[in-house]
Amino acid sequence: MPKTLTITQPDDWHLHLRDGAMLQGILPESARDFGRAIIMPNLVPPVVTLADATAYHGRIINALPASSDFTPLMTLYLTETTDANDVAAAHASGLVKAVKLYPAGATTNSDSGVKNIKNVMPVLERMASIGLPLCVHGEVTDPSIDIFDREAVFIDRVLEPLRQNLPELRIIMEHVTTKDGVDYIGETEKNLAGTLTTHHLIINRNDLLVGGIKPHYYCLPIAKRESHRLALVKAATSGDPRYFLGTDSAPHSDPNKESACGCAGVFSATNTMACLAHVFETAGALDRLEKFTSLNGPAYYRLPANTAKTTLTRHDSPVIFPEKIETKAGPVTVFDPGFPLHWSTS
Ligand code: DOR
Ligand code: ZN
Repeated sequence: MPKTLTITQPDDWHLHLRDGAMLQGILPESARDFGRAIIMPNLVPPVVTLADATAYHGRIINALPASSDFTPLMTLYLTETTDANDVAAAHASGLVKAVKLYPAGATTNSDSGVKNIKNVMPVLERMASIGLPLCVHGEVTDPSIDIFDREAVFIDRVLEPLRQNLPELRIIMEHVTTKDGVDYIGETEKNLAGTLTTHHLIINRNDLLVGGIKPHYYCLPIAKRESHRLALVKAATSGDPRYFLGTDSAPHSDPNKESACGCAGVFSATNTMACLAHVFETAGALDRLEKFTSLNGPAYYRLPANTAKTTLTRHDSPVIFPEKIETKAGPVTVFDPGFPLHWSTS
């Protein structure tokens, strides 16, 4: 008899779906396993207003496979000219579940992001008063700061002062990649949680760089040294309600990844649950997988958990996932965890 584990259907609290042909091609990969996902707004041009989010939501719904009941939870891209009244209207609409802070220049399509956090304080104050969460890309962009230190410096320079100024603002530190990040979250009593990606639980910077550069492991924040990865696994598998899954699955076509200046992003929507089952099984924490993928996220976002169930089955032989998803925007390579996967979902 194969081993099975039935859990509440998972959600993805950080997902890039893109638009147009790419959206059409990769959306089924997330809709297959996840009930809901927080949809990142870093399109070109970005999703800034409620009107933008409403239109993008419509395009996602139109691109869904007919039988799917996947629910996109929309976000707004915070700019220095964002209108606090529009943010409040977006929250009241029920469609928009968070606002995303990208420090300008931190990552893909972040040029319209925030240069000086002081310029967005009125919007953040309004969000704190209405209870709308802020998702944060937690890296400084100061060119003098080493890329491997950008998360830790962001905590000191931006996140801690922001939380001191506005303790009522509910914050999600996205895709935490360092022990500094998980420790910082672990010291906080309220209004701070962190998402962890599938790939940062599995790869370290050696996987990215040793033996030849692996463009499909290049993402931002960049993978860190092994001691950091171990801290992330400890946090994810702890059951602590402050940590939950945000895959940061971020498709780019292979030519855009396999290039002299390759794009940042790992596409893991297809095999994330199988990868996570492996990580939790290896850590002896399969009983806490549901908290990480299905319970902690909705609790922090003050949403009910999904009512549907997902069954994970462990197979003796490896389960074969596609190496690439073919889309009309080009092929997208699926995350290779570097070990055989033995779990499937149904
Ligand atoms: O690796 C990443 N890819 N990190 C991000 O923050 C953005 C994302 C993307 O949009 O491609
Ligand atoms: Zn992202």
